[in-house]
Amino acid sequence: MTKVFAHRGASGYAPENTLPAFALAEEQGADGVELDVQLTRDGQVVVIHDEKIDRTSDGEGFVRDYTLEELKAFSFHAQMEEYRGVKIPTLEEVLKTLKPGKMQVNIELKTGIFRYPEIEKKTIDIVRRMGMENRVIYSSFNHYSIQEILKLNPLAETAYLFSDVILHMEDYGKKTGVQGLHPAVYHLYMPELLEDYKKSGLKIRVWTVNRKEDMKKFIENDLEAVITNYPDLALEVRKQVED
Ligand code: G3P
Ligand code: MG
Repeated sequence: MTKVFAHRGASGYAPENTLPAFALAEEQGADGVELDVQLTRDGQVVVIHDEKIDRTSDGEGFVRDYTLEELKAFSFHAQMEEYRGVKIPTLEEVLKTLKPGKMQVNIELKTGIFRYPEIEKKTIDIVRRMGMENRVIYSSFNHYSIQEILKLNPLAETAYLFSDVILHMEDYGKKTGVQGLHPAVYHLYMPELLEDYKKSGLKIRVWTVNRKEDMKKFIENDLEAVITNYPDLALEVRKQVED
């Protein structure tokens, strides 16, 4: 059965990558959440998509130029009235709130632009400390980061993110030790690619699947997961497919 992962939490309804968005994903019945991590100036792993805070907060500048305490002073998503005053969460805060539940957690390491010192080790340490190793999937567009994760924990579940159509991606994935591939939704409009991925035996989690017809197609094709901003919608589609 294809799993439904909430992209940056249930970000179609609540501010992305915040505690309310993750709580809503759980409430809607998602099987997992996807979230993005970056590093603060004082080496704290925080959950935020962009390298800068400009788009999602009332502040400006790079995450890596602020300490956690400084970042906590900003209001995130202040434009969304009902979520006024939401703060940037640390990875640890997010995992703490998710720990009592059952959802899987796809941690995307945002290491494509900045090479944050030891973010892989810090992330793994937090996951270990929370005792959530068997619920976490590490992914990144930076495949060196994923290799670093595997060096630190050869048993970690990992996947490569990519946003271009790459020849023999599945062979490369298998050869370099990941269990999953996370392609962009538009790749799988190419039927031959969908077939190659299905045949590979790798876990294919597609992002970002927000259209009903796409959800239906991937669920019917029994892919591992759809990563969506609207988990409730995908769950509804899955139910229809099952019935
Ligand atoms: O992990 C899937 C997806 O989140 C990758 O793209 O830019 O939304 O982090 P982005
Ligand atoms: Mg992401």
